[in-house]
Amino acid sequence: MGYKEQIQQDRIPRHVAIIMDGNGRWAKRQGMARMFGHRQGVETVHHITEAAAELGISYMTLYAFSTENWNRPKDEVDALMALLVDTIAKETPTLMKNNIRLQTIGDLSRLPQVTRDNFMACIEETTKNTGLTLVIALSYSARWELIRATQKIAAAVKEGEMLIEDINEEVIGGYLTTSNMPDPDLLIRTSGELRISNFLLWQLAYSELYFTDCLWPEFTPEEFYRAIVDYQHRERRFGKTSEQVR
Ligand code: FPP
Repeated sequence: MGYKEQIQQDRIPRHVAIIMDGNGRWAKRQGMARMFGHRQGVETVHHITEAAAELGISYMTLYAFSTENWNRPKDEVDALMALLVDTIAKETPTLMKNNIRLQTIGDLSRLPQVTRDNFMACIEETTKNTGLTLVIALSYSARWELIRATQKIAAAVKEGEMLIEDINEEVIGGYLTTSNMPDPDLLIRTSGELRISNFLLWQLAYSELYFTDCLWPEFTPEEFYRAIVDYQHRERRFGKTSEQVR
């Protein structure tokens, strides 16, 4: 029996976050340039997004470009930005066909104007779609996000809009870029690296973590279903005892 058939429909994760890693290594193994891996990675994004929408997942957040990725060689950064523009142009019909709404999180002010404009246009076009919300993390890092939230909260206190005693989990969550989404139930990272790498540090507090050696370009819907099945066999306790949550 395939993994898809093992998925329990009543326990679909609401929010899946993915660190898509291993494009460069995959390309190198084929004797190709790194961009060949990123282009193949976009194919994986297409297939996994369709699979997530079909399963009825509400939110999927993809780590496409981190704050730290700006330090990569300029050629690769430029090529990645161009690839993002091409992908958005090419994939907007797929999003419409599958009733998918696009959103982004991250410091978009650092993106080239054309990249930002393309994302904004796609967000606008898909805003009324009611199926999966696909969230692309672009120029994102959790520490950037937490600094920004702290600055905003400090400013609100200074302006007398909030008391220090009022600051709690909900308030902090409300100042994060993910304020309109549930926390991820499941985090997937490909390529065998066992790290969080500055992704959604606050939001992943109680997420189930799933690591696979599969490189992102070779991560298939079947591998995705396998991760969902694995998640469904976990017991989520949120700090309580096993007896309390049963
Ligand atoms: C990690 O592989 C991948 C990235 C840093 C970029 C991922 C971007 C895409 C797949 C395009 C995304 C497109 C959309 C529309 C979301 P790596 O370069 O770190 O690989 P390595 O660790 O093997 O060097």
